[in-house]
Amino acid sequence: MKEQVANQDYCYFAVSDNDGLCGYIAVKPEKDSRFFLSKLYLKSDRRGKGIASEMLKRVFSEAEKAGKTSVYLTVNKHNDHAVNVYKKKGFEVIDSVVTDIGNGFVMDDYIMEYKL
Ligand SMILES: CC(C)(COP(=O)(O)OP(=O)(O)OC[C@H]1O[C@@H](n2cnc3c(N)ncnc32)[C@H](O)[C@@H]1OP(=O)(O)O)[C@@H](O)C(=O)NCCC(=O)NCCS
Repeated sequence: MKEQVANQDYCYFAVSDNDGLCGYIAVKPEKDSRFFLSKLYLKSDRRGKGIASEMLKRVFSEAEKAGKTSVYLTVNKHNDHAVNVYKKKGFEVIDSVVTDIGNGFVMDDYIMEYKL
């Protein structure tokens, strides 16, 4: 995380509600017109309360502040809940990618995009 912030342009946001820290966001402006949403996490007991939609609003506003025209992310094809959340909030699947992570394992992801 420190390496990403120090040398790779990543920015992390801590997310809190009235009960304290409950999640985090990681984003990164690309060199082109895109904004990368790298991580969007909420503690399991704080899900389903509308916080994720507020987190995504913040991501979109950070992307606009950075002068970008779209936000993109990768999400595991089998992460049905996250895929449905992103679709509901206006993201579209634009591609898919399989990444070999060694020892016979692969990451099987969709690439999703939200146009600002
Ligand atoms: C992804 C994550 C942040 C979403 O947070 P959440 O609290 O579960 O999301 P919510 O249930 O509040 O849903 C967010 C929105 O999607 C909608 N939604 C949720 N499930 C839906 C479904 N099956 N179909 C359509 N819309 C759906 C909700 O109605 C809500 O929209 P609204 O606020 O406009 O009403 C959270 O589930 C999480 O941290 N998951 C583990 C980490 C993860 O997988 N992150 C993504 C990796 S890329």
